[in-house]
Amino acid sequence: MLFSALISFYLKAKSSRQLKHHFLRTFAKEVLDDDRYYYSFDLFRTLKASLLQKEEEIEVLDLGAGSRKNNSNRRKIKEIAKTSVSPDWQCQQLYYMIRHFQPKTILEMGTSLGMSSLYMHAAAPKAQLLSLEGSPEIAQRARQHFQKCNAQNIQLLEGEFSQTLPQALEQIQKLDFAFLDGNHQKAPTLAYFEACLPYLHEGSVLVFDDIYWSKEMKSAWEELKARPEVSFSIDLFWAGLLFFKPLELPKKDWKLISNRYRPW
Ligand SMILES: C[S@@+](CC[C@H](N)C(=O)[O-])C[C@H]1O[C@@H](n2cnc3c(N)ncnc32)[C@H](O)[C@@H]1O
Repeated sequence: MLFSALISFYLKAKSSRQLKHHFLRTFAKEVLDDDRYYYSFDLFRTLKASLLQKEEEIEVLDLGAGSRKNNSNRRKIKEIAKTSVSPDWQCQQLYYMIRHFQPKTILEMGTSLGMSSLYMHAAAPKAQLLSLEGSPEIAQRARQHFQKCNAQNIQLLEGEFSQTLPQALEQIQKLDFAFLDGNHQKAPTLAYFEACLPYLHEGSVLVFDDIYWSKEMKSAWEELKARPEVSFSIDLFWAGLLFFKPLELPKKDWKLISNRYRPW
């Protein structure tokens, strides 16, 4: 199912060379085509490589559909790093997104070991970044990683999203950018969108991870992008981005791909 969805995505997707609209073309160039390597990536890659070697086990609270591969309560750090953490290239795309949109407030739902938070923080060290994680021992590891990488401006809120999301939104007030990468189930995903709505403005961007991951996530994505508050969406296959009115584009749903994968 995922493979046929990928083929269909690839056939429909457009690269920066094919895009006429300024907003989409600059997004594709600066976020998808950008392959500049930053010094901080080395630090994060070294950390990730060390986590992928760690045999140590920690207690994991199963709070939502996150990884299909292991439901046991004790998991090796190396397994969490392999199955629950976004791959480096996705973290880099998040980094480029933050550089592109320059948000002042960033919300992350699903910290895990802190890798995607670290990339987003490095792209905008002065932004207010709140990251939410419900599994205490995982949250503890993420805090250690933030310290190790000298990422002082990441605030981690520990607890079930139903408790921490309202707190985070109250603190943020005006939400510029959110990365929703926690509970990959339809009803909670729609509920998180609903909770964020009063805090959004016309420059806000919501990024939903894994929109093709399951039937539920595909269906959630279809509903989200059809919402009347949404002016248009960008589908990157690994994630979907929502943009809000009054910014309008000629079409509502854009599938975009890097010109590395579509060189013509
Ligand atoms: C896919 S991982 C996040 C990966 C991270 N964003 C990255 O790319 O490095 C999802 C995390 O969300 C947490 N989570 C899932 N559902 C949750 C919920 N309902 N409340 C709090 N945390 C939750 C899980 O414990 C897990 O650590």
